[in-house]
Amino acid sequence: MRVRRAGLRDLPGIHRVEQASFPDPWPLFAFLPYLLDREALALVAEEDGVLGFLLARREGEEVHIHDLAVAPAHRRRGVGSALLGELFRAARGARRVRLEVRASNRTAQAFYKKHGFREEAVLPGYYADGEDGLLMVRDLP
Ligand SMILES: CC(C)(COP(=O)(O)OP(=O)(O)OC[C@H]1O[C@@H](n2cnc3c(N)ncnc32)[C@H](O)[C@@H]1OP(=O)(O)O)[C@@H](O)C(=O)NCCC(=O)NCCS
Repeated sequence: MRVRRAGLRDLPGIHRVEQASFPDPWPLFAFLPYLLDREALALVAEEDGVLGFLLARREGEEVHIHDLAVAPAHRRRGVGSALLGELFRAARGARRVRLEVRASNRTAQAFYKKHGFREEAVLPGYYADGEDGLLMVRDLP
């Protein structure tokens, strides 16, 4: 498995992983700004195709993770950790990484806590269906 910068050719694979991972997946076109913009932090993990992806942006002194998923059949093999590790390297110079996660998504919360994130705030009704979000942050060295 290797992690590399994502490009336009990864769009179908990223979309497939997204659809298998979320009840409310992003539409195909939503990925284009990340794949076309060199400033975006867009990564894929691949091994005979896309196993997982991470999309983030530098926002001032912060890096904001917008989307992260691993194909269900390949979870719990360190793919998500490899993507996050590469993001931390790419984010060097930023002060912290932040993200929002559904309050019900205990798996992702456990994953982020394992990687040093803490819960910073509850975001009431953050999601379109009314579910609360949790703001999670991690300081960078
Ligand atoms: C969250 C997600 C990206 C993790 O990817 P992954 O490749 O399975 O994660 P890793 O194998 O690197 O896991 C690293 C650690 O995270 C924690 N973790 C991961 N999955 C877990 C689970 N189901 N239950 C509890 N802890 C878990 C564990 O501490 C794990 O270490 P271990 O396997 O040595 O115990 C993946 O579960 C996923 O795609 N979920 C659906 C999409 C999603 O929720 N994305 C995040 C939205 S904010």
